[in-house]
Parts: sequence; C-alpha cells; structure tokens
Amino acid sequence: MEARRAVEGDMRTKARQYGYREVCTPEFEELELFTLRSGEGIVNEMYAFQDKGGRWVSLRPEMTAAVLRLYVNEARVWPKPIRWFYFGDCFRYERPQKGRYRQFWQFGAELIGADTAAADAEVILLAHDLLSSTGIQFDLQVGHLALMRHILSPLPDESRRQVRALLDKRDMAGLRRFLSEGDYGLMEDQLTALSKAHTLEDIFAVTGDIPENERLIELCSLLDAAGIDYTLNPAISRGLDYYTGVVFEAFAEGLGAENQILGGGAYRLAHLFGGDDTPSCGFAIGFDRVMVALGDREPSSARRVVVASTPAGRLFATEVARLLRRAGVVTEMDVTGRSLSAQMAHASKTAAFAVIIGQEEAQKRSITIKDLSRGTQQTLPLDEAVRELFSGTR
Ligand code: HAM
Repeated sequence: MEARRAVEGDMRTKARQYGYREVCTPEFEELELFTLRSGEGIVNEMYAFQDKGGRWVSLRPEMTAAVLRLYVNEARVWPKPIRWFYFGDCFRYERPQKGRYRQFWQFGAELIGADTAAADAEVILLAHDLLSSTGIQFDLQVGHLALMRHILSPLPDESRRQVRALLDKRDMAGLRRFLSEGDYGLMEDQLTALSKAHTLEDIFAVTGDIPENERLIELCSLLDAAGIDYTLNPAISRGLDYYTGVVFEAFAEGLGAENQILGGGAYRLAHLFGGDDTPSCGFAIGFDRVMVALGDREPSSARRVVVASTPAGRLFATEVARLLRRAGVVTEMDVTGRSLSAQMAHASKTAAFAVIIGQEEAQKRSITIKDLSRGTQQTLPLDEAVRELFSGTR
C-alpha cells in the first residue's frame, strides 16, 4: 500500500498541476447509468444485481458516466471547460488473470466542455505525464475514429454494426472473413493499409481528404511541440459506438496479454443525463496494471528512526520520541520491554537510524544517534540533534 499510495500521490500532484480537481462518485449506481450509452450487452460484463427494493443496480465498471452525471446535476452552469480527475475502484465481471481483476482501480481525468485540438492535446499530455511520473516504460498510441469510420462508411448500417462489434473484440481474422464474404475486398485492403500507416502522410494516402484531417494535423503539431513520445495509430478502434473523435491507448512492457494500461478519447455523454450536448475528452489509467509493471518493492526503511532505551532512559526516551514525531520524523519506540541489544537488532532491520538512550543520556538530556547503514554514531544535545539530523527527513 505504501508503494501504491506514493504512485497515487504523484499522480494527484501532476493532475493538480494541470488545473484538474478531484471528484468522487458512488461505488454502485442504477444499472441504467451504464446501459443508457453502452446498451444491454454490457450487463454481462458487470456486477449487476437487484437490491432489496427490486431496483436494478450495479457496481461501477468505470467512472466516466457518473462523472458526467455529476457534471449535469451540479456543474453545468459552471464556467467551462471543467477539469476533473478521480481515483477509485471499479468492478467488472471478468475471468481474473494477471493484470485483469474483478475489482481494480482507475485513475482518470475528464475535460468537459471543449471541442478543439488543444483540448485533445491537453488530455493526451496529462495522460502521458501521469504515466511518466510513475517511471514505467510505455508506448502511447494516438488515433482518430473518423479515419476508420470513413473507410467503413459505404457499409449498410447492419453490416457496419457487425464490423464494429468485430473491431471492438479485436477479432481481425473474423473481420477479414466478414469483409471478403460480403464482397468488400477494397475495404479490407484499406483497413490493412490503415493499420500499417504511422505517419500523417501515409494515413491521408489511405483515407483521402476528410474534414477531420485538419484536426489531426493540429493535434500532432501540438503533441510534437510538447516533445512527447507517441505513435500515430489510425487503426485504434476502441469504442466505435462510444467515442466520437480522437482516441488513445497506452501499453506497458512485460505485462503479457493485459498490457493496456490506459484508454481514452473524445466522447459525448452529458445529453444522455439531461444536459446539453457537451463535448468531452478523458481517459482512465488501469492503476493495478501500472503497479504490476513497476514490480514488487520492498518497503523502504529510509527516514525511519527507532528509539532504543534502557529502563533508566525510558521516560526521557518517550519525551524524545514525541519531539522527533513533532519534527516530522517517523519514529518507532520499543513496546516489548526487550533488552537494548535486542532493540538495536530490531532497529537494524527496520530503520535508518537508531536513537540510543541510557541513563547517561537521560541525565545529560542528550541522545546518541547511530547511522545504521554506515555504523557511525555521535552523541548530541537533544535540540541540536533534532535540528541537525532530522530536519531534512521531514
Ligand atoms: P477502459 O479502456 O475500459 O476505459 O479502461 C481503462 C483502463 O482500465 C484499461 O486501459 C485498463 O488498464 C484498466 N482496466 C480495465 N479493466 C480492468 C480489469 N478488469 N482489471 C484491471 N484493469 C482494468 C474506460 O474505463 C473509460 N471510462 C476511459 C475514459 C475516460 N474514456 C473517457 N474518459
């Protein structure tokens, strides 16, 4: 938990630096909140149940819908755009495996009320900075659904729905089969070419001149100006029914099949909850996957102090421990009554410094400080010791 809290803290700091403020929503909701946009099919993937009053409710599978409902209920007259972030647990009825859990945590952000390349860029930069703040290696991929939609536009509605379902499942073999059987060979070639295009030039060579090209050019120039590393991937097909423009995903190394650590894009949800049609853009980071990518860490004993004392030094030791804690030093004191040498043995396993207090120290109101990694020790008057040695550990 210490490692998780540290990463979470860094993310909060970073999100605040971008002007985003934290919001919180309930852990369970009326089922309809999620089926309104995503349809009944989503229920299979959720912890949905009837409560004692016969109401259909669900543990939240994600937080965007609730954040947008919060916007409609509480903040729709606020000055826009609204910048919000959140950190919370979500629940999905999945088969658990490494990196895929039934309860997992998301750190997400939503920018509500702006529909420009600058808004898309800000959200992508924030996503990039949050992931960078953790120290993991990742690949950030950026696309725009207009490209794929343009290629699929000649399809009749029903076929388009089927193609979207196949794309959502990333079933590329199924997609190829569907297109060749339906005599859409050209479309298949275009999709293949699109999946291999990673520069604007190559992408536009496949899609031709479409209105969204300008937006994509501007977005890329903003991301390039910020100097972040990203890959253009026009084949990203996440949530074709859900997202409306830019989409982006990030992947970490060494996670196996569940290597997607972030997903997001531009969408419109506010009108479903009674608000005006409002453009939004956001993302969520799979926090647990980030922690798996970071690997296990031993809890650090740096900056921890153990106050070890003899029975004669005990009362003064209590006073010293209080003083150190007040000065911001993490201070442990013996509560077992064991010998000074046993206390020191314990300290060497759990702390960076030991403060040793015997009869002499108690009489002189001084303390002996032992640096447990170097093995050096010195005796100093109490005030000076606190000031000199521990002011930096706060
Ligand atoms: P999502 O792609 O469904 O998007 O989830 C975001 C991230 O949550 C995934 O990239 C993944 O890292 C993590 N995740 C999903 N399911 C699990 C699981 N079972 N176990 C562990 N991690 C998981 C959304 O949820 C959208 N609400 C993102 C968004 C915000 N779009 C706009 N604003």
